[in-house]
Amino acid sequence: MKTIDELLAEGVEGKRVFVRADLNVPLADGKITDDGRIRAVLPTVKALADGGAKVIVASHLGRPKGAPDPAFSLLPAAERLAELLGKPVAFAQDTVGPAAHEAVDGLEPGQVAVIENLRFNAGETSKDDTERGEFADQLAALADVYVGDGFGAVHRKHASVYDLPARLPHYAGYLIATEVGVLKRLTDEVKRPYVVALGGAKVSDKLAVIDQLLGKADRLLIGGGMAYTFLKAQGHEVGISLLQEDQIPAVKEYIKRAEDSGVELVLPVDVLVSPDFPDLKTKAPANPTTVAADAIPADQEGLDIGPETRKLYASKLADAGTVFWNGPMGVFEHPDYAEGTKAVAQALLDSAAFTVVGGGDSAAAVRLLGFDENAFGHISTGGGASLEYLEGKTLPGLAALED
Ligand code: 3PG
Repeated sequence: MKTIDELLAEGVEGKRVFVRADLNVPLADGKITDDGRIRAVLPTVKALADGGAKVIVASHLGRPKGAPDPAFSLLPAAERLAELLGKPVAFAQDTVGPAAHEAVDGLEPGQVAVIENLRFNAGETSKDDTERGEFADQLAALADVYVGDGFGAVHRKHASVYDLPARLPHYAGYLIATEVGVLKRLTDEVKRPYVVALGGAKVSDKLAVIDQLLGKADRLLIGGGMAYTFLKAQGHEVGISLLQEDQIPAVKEYIKRAEDSGVELVLPVDVLVSPDFPDLKTKAPANPTTVAADAIPADQEGLDIGPETRKLYASKLADAGTVFWNGPMGVFEHPDYAEGTKAVAQALLDSAAFTVVGGGDSAAAVRLLGFDENAFGHISTGGGASLEYLEGKTLPGLAALED
């Protein structure tokens, strides 16, 4: 994989460099609530601009349906990029149309333009190779060189991630190089005990990675909505908690495999429950009660791990050599259900382990809960991407940068 340093050494003065970033940031009422992904691509954009490139930054945002949709405009991200760079950033209101060409043609060396959301064009995400290829041809016409730096999207076989690099000289940006270096430390050279904390809503999203980790991790801590499918698989009633009934056979098999292979699988011993899901807008007090994990009342929903589980998980993280954490432990967006996620974040900070926080949600949780992100070993910008890497899959956006 050629890196941006090699490109800079070859010289970029006056060249049009297409940077595929992941500026897919969370928005509320049109405002960015966490700009971590924009900050993560700054070193690449700055280095190229400083080297005299004409920098074209492109990304997706959300999941629009292949046509322009103002709710998913990249304009707020472009404005934030300009603030962080401390200089103007041109914005094109289309992806490969006249506005994009005008913006790129107007760039002087060292200047930056952002083009509109790539997913406003159906070719970006198409499953049809020809359709994707056509869009990639149009994107290629905008640039002389490609830099892949959208780590959060490298698991997507999309035109700008997979097809475009085949059409231009291509290099990996600083973010991708860093992320891949960190993930290698979790797969090739792991310092033990290797403890993995997994949360989030859906067990089905995590099955493949659990499958892989059962052969690699020493300890697996389960929290978040997915914990209830594990508790149910163990024979406990979970009330009206999130449950994926169809995943119970797979989860039972994992529980058995963990036992057989000596992997310590740790489940919540107590949980915070309520008959109602909390109001995340008003954040009105939710007044949850704490119950044992094997005694969730029939009319109640588990919404966070309880105080005993917080202590238990902290103790299981304390002696770790390496920690990978993906997925919040509860509905952290509401203060009454944030303690579980906070406790895991704090335990990571307190341990001497190499700590990796993987995923948009957990990374945003860490920042929104007020933790200093620099205190963690690494906060990945890619949720799905880092999980798929750990699953051992070939990631299209990395494969495309290889040759
Ligand atoms: C993410 O948020 O994980 C990445 O930006 C990829 O987005 P996607 O899941 O919509 O492809």
